[in-house]
Amino acid sequence: MCGIVGYIGNEACQEIILGSLQRLEYRGYDSSGIATLNDDRLQLRRSVGKLSELKAKILEEPVSGKIGIGHIRWATHGGVTEQNAHPHSVNGEIAIVHNGIIENYASLKEELMDKGCVFSSDTDSEVLAHLFSNMIGQGLDPKRALETVLTKIEGAYSFVALSKSYPDSLMVARNASPLAIGFSDDMVIVASDATAIAHLTQKVTYLKDNDYAILTSKSHTIYNGENEMVNREVVKVNVSPILLDKLGFRHYMEKEIHEQPDAISHTISAMTDSNGRLTAGLEDYNLSKIKGIVLLAAGTSFYAAQIGRYWIEKLAGVPVVCEVASEYHYRNPVASFQTTAIVISQSGESIDSLMAVRHAKKLGLDTYGIVNVVDSTISREVDKILPTRAGPEIGVASTKAFTAQLVVLICLAISIGRQNGKLDEDISNNIHQKILKIPSTIGKSMNLFELILPISYKLKNAHSCLFLGRDMLFPLACEGALKLKELSYIHAEGFASGEMKHGPIALIEEGLPVVSFVSEDEISRKAVSNLKEAEARGAYIIIIGTQTAVNMIDFATDKIIIPNCDPILTPIVSAVPAQILAYLTALEKGTDIDQPRNLAKSVTVE
Ligand code: F6R
Repeated sequence: MCGIVGYIGNEACQEIILGSLQRLEYRGYDSSGIATLNDDRLQLRRSVGKLSELKAKILEEPVSGKIGIGHIRWATHGGVTEQNAHPHSVNGEIAIVHNGIIENYASLKEELMDKGCVFSSDTDSEVLAHLFSNMIGQGLDPKRALETVLTKIEGAYSFVALSKSYPDSLMVARNASPLAIGFSDDMVIVASDATAIAHLTQKVTYLKDNDYAILTSKSHTIYNGENEMVNREVVKVNVSPILLDKLGFRHYMEKEIHEQPDAISHTISAMTDSNGRLTAGLEDYNLSKIKGIVLLAAGTSFYAAQIGRYWIEKLAGVPVVCEVASEYHYRNPVASFQTTAIVISQSGESIDSLMAVRHAKKLGLDTYGIVNVVDSTISREVDKILPTRAGPEIGVASTKAFTAQLVVLICLAISIGRQNGKLDEDISNNIHQKILKIPSTIGKSMNLFELILPISYKLKNAHSCLFLGRDMLFPLACEGALKLKELSYIHAEGFASGEMKHGPIALIEEGLPVVSFVSEDEISRKAVSNLKEAEARGAYIIIIGTQTAVNMIDFATDKIIIPNCDPILTPIVSAVPAQILAYLTALEKGTDIDQPRNLAKSVTVE
């Protein structure tokens, strides 16, 4: 998703802005740009493609100055062209960078064009540049200009504006799109997230919705939507630079797959009280209020929700529905049996998930967030956070955050079940002991890279691939398919094994790869016959499961054996080979693994 940066301070800002943009690259983007101000001259460089393209341009034509803004763009309105890349400038007077969507841009553009403004891009963002140009042109100072522009625009946005008339100030604002302001004695830097600035300062303030601010090299003055000056809490960010390094791995994704044992043990610690009991960080009081749950999430987090539903229903006997966040609030959902909404989000910034949980709040539900980025908007808005402690996830495709989400969900299921009497102490302790072993079990799975490599050679030439699973392995099949398609661009779909005969079996033809997750429980045995039907029609069968489970399917061509684990934990352990399979296949195909085409890490537009 787009990422924005603004700097004002005592140092030349070109490298500072480029460094911060580089730290935002993980969000996914297709073009980038920078604008600085020096000696009354606005200098603008923009480029399509990776940041390296922009850097090459800047090497030939550097920019100078101690105030500037930068942007990485993920195209929404207007194609991927240099013209549409940010910053957008008007007459060399104003430059802006913007993340989000100005929803009423079409009518604003018409109005501005009627006044004689000439647009040079197809973006919604350019209206901001013209609005600022008009306001400053009318003699408004930065605060008044900001205030007035904000009365005109609608939508989700964060932006930074720079004006030649006010070379000592940056104008910034946010609504629903995140914005963090970092500062030290001699500089202020603003960016879409703290990852981009934590190497420069640990002192960070997050703007709230409808806040706007004027930044100088020595100050940041924040106003709320009522135009009152406000103080926002200063938090100490601790994004360790080492966590943002690839540490010798080929990709962040490879590193993050390997980080799962740590991510899971940190997450388990956060879910355990001083007596070692799983409490999910919830008081018994909160737990006893949970009588019906709606799980809200998008993408991979949604598949975690679907797996979580099986656990909560099975272990706690509490009814659960899972809702795709982008659909939820537009559907007038009826929440009669629900008491609690739990939103699951790695970034804590997905706008769909944010809107969904806000809607649940309006319906009167208690809101919890299973969130990885604890300083995020969702974390701040929910009643209670159940944190995943996966650490920064930079690869666009979610890996360690997913397995950490699963761990939180199973811990939560046990806690609710124990509290409402569905689970007795012995059973819950028994599962707890097994959960404590997951980090070492997953640690052993790292040698699967070698086993899976030859399978990825075969998969790379496939045009399509099916993933199957039953029961709680069905959502995992959907997640396996999502990983493969987003990384390797091979078409892939996940199905419930039992559904094959109701239609998808028509897709089976000679050599079609069918990846099937199996576990040792009864229901998986039923999946054997579904697979046999696929094999009989020429499918290339790849099985993922424990040795005992895999033994049921002696006709599979390739078998990926995971370390032994209780069937109830299979979705967590089997997620790892699915990630490795997608990773190695993408590696073979030579795709952009950490930033797959068209994708963004945190999706802050609807
Ligand atoms: C896929 C992936 C996405 C995210 C989705 C939600 O690998 O990472 O599908 O899961 O965009 O993002 P969060 O969890 O940040 O709300």
